[in-house]
Amino acid sequence: MVNSKSLKTEILVIGSGIAGLSIALKLAAKHKVIVLAKSSLSEGSTNYAQGGIAAVLDPFDSIESHIVDTEEAGAGLCDPAAVELVAKHAAHSIRELIELGVPFSRCEGNECTYPFHLTQEGGHSHRRVIHAADHTGHSVLETLIQAVYSHPNITLLPDHISIDLILNKAHKRCIGAYVLNKRENTVYDIWADFTVLATGGASKAYLYTSNPDTSTGDGIAMAWRAGCSVANLEFNQFHPTCLYHPQDRSFLISEAVRGEGGILRLPDGTAFMEQYDSRKDLAPRDIVARAIDHEMKKHGLDCVYLDITHKSREFIQNHFPTIFERCLNDGIDISEEQIPVVPAAHYTCGGVVTNLSGETDLAGLYAIGETAYTGLHGANRLASNSLVEGLVFAETARQSIEKAYEQPLNNDEAPRPWDSSLVTDPAEKILVSHDWDELRRVMWDYVGIVRTNDRLKRARQRIRNLQKEINEYYCEHTVHSDFLELRNLALVAELMVKSAQTRKESRGLHYNLDYPGLRKKAKPTILKPKPAKKTKHKS
Ligand code: FAD
Ligand code: SIN
Repeated sequence: MVNSKSLKTEILVIGSGIAGLSIALKLAAKHKVIVLAKSSLSEGSTNYAQGGIAAVLDPFDSIESHIVDTEEAGAGLCDPAAVELVAKHAAHSIRELIELGVPFSRCEGNECTYPFHLTQEGGHSHRRVIHAADHTGHSVLETLIQAVYSHPNITLLPDHISIDLILNKAHKRCIGAYVLNKRENTVYDIWADFTVLATGGASKAYLYTSNPDTSTGDGIAMAWRAGCSVANLEFNQFHPTCLYHPQDRSFLISEAVRGEGGILRLPDGTAFMEQYDSRKDLAPRDIVARAIDHEMKKHGLDCVYLDITHKSREFIQNHFPTIFERCLNDGIDISEEQIPVVPAAHYTCGGVVTNLSGETDLAGLYAIGETAYTGLHGANRLASNSLVEGLVFAETARQSIEKAYEQPLNNDEAPRPWDSSLVTDPAEKILVSHDWDELRRVMWDYVGIVRTNDRLKRARQRIRNLQKEINEYYCEHTVHSDFLELRNLALVAELMVKSAQTRKESRGLHYNLDYPGLRKKAKPTILKPKPAKKTKHKS
């Protein structure tokens, strides 16, 4: 049996990646903030980000060019207002990180036009990606964690997984969340004036992914259950180059390797990207991932190869120390051998619908970072536009929350405590691990890089069956972390398939053989939930 406890705060931030910690730090100047992380504070996609952060920093670059590149990668589906906002404010966000002490790589030599080194990635027509070698996310996160760690207004709660949002139905407002403390196996209700979802993406829906275990779409699922709209979930990005190693977990080989001259080759050495796009290896990701998928199917290959051997060992070790070491551990010296690579699920372009201030459909609830759909990425995210989105929307959401505090809040009624009196501990957890495997394989096989109507229909049926089992299990049993994640991921997978079935064309990351053409008018796929059913867990 799980007991219940209560906490109260002004701001509840769910997630401790770049988005969550940035907004927590900003709001803590005036408010009490609680930050949740469902495992350690550093575990999340941010920690693994390699390539860097896109921003117009070079005096020879322009905001206009960043806008054009973002919109072109987004295949006609970006919201121009979101793109302009991010392109204009990116440099300011980078300056804030530099002031906090992030150790970005410096530019060396006589040709520098900016003090820090700027690398190039697919779809960018200029060098505009600031980075800390190939461990940008880790360096940013370490700096942010140091800043929040000793902040008197911030309470950090690692190993706390939120279960669902708490609603004040009379005021149609989010007033916090129910949260499972994984260490004590206790459920808290956390009562907050404002709740910020910063829970990252949902790429764990796929069998092969570059993402850590945290990317289970929890924020998207919780927001949906609370009545918020979601958008563009058919556009899950596949990164073209993850290390292919049968005995190792997926590991990303940064696009910056191609930015610094890496070439994709077939096993016989043929470079193939020029057949697909004039930008060759630096075409946007959807194009490169599809090209690799096509070559692998055509030649019956397990992988293709990424070749950076024309660069010196010293250059490679300086620019890509993490990738160099990791490949060496797997027996591949990338200064002498080509790297075996395959595409893997990488980024959720859609998410909880927000406006330019991170506000969702529900009063009191914000969504920022990968969990949000702001309109920035359209049908395909431009490389290194994600970390910057987290930073810029942390700032606009901060401004909106500060402004909202100027009005009366309608948040005087405490949440009802979590009630587990009607449910029992599960006898066994085998169902959960089976369903995890089945869900991720179905998504990989039927909702991957290339889709068909038939595959999507099969996926929908299989996921619906899984959902039925999962919902029955949830209604009867006390909650545990693996199961909560499965419940969320199955819901988000269903929404991904539903979105994919709604789009009757091929655009950006969504490629359906039954609708290979583009529709004239580009429209986002927006899904709105029906009112949620009552469960035995809540009073
Ligand atoms: P995350 O960093 O994923 O953090 C999510 C947080 O939410 C975690 O703290 C997690 O514990 C918490 N959480 C989730 N659910 C719950 C819950 N129910 N309860 C409590 N806490 C919860 N983007 C770029 O722009 N440039 C790059 O170079 C780049 N490289 C990448 C390399 C890799 C290998 C990967 C995986 C991604 C990369 N990306 C890159 C994408 C980028 O890293 C992510 O989109 C971004 O870091 C997301 O940040 P976030 O704060 O939204 O979420
Ligand atoms: C990479 O380094 O290739 C990842 C960049 C990104 O996802 O934006």
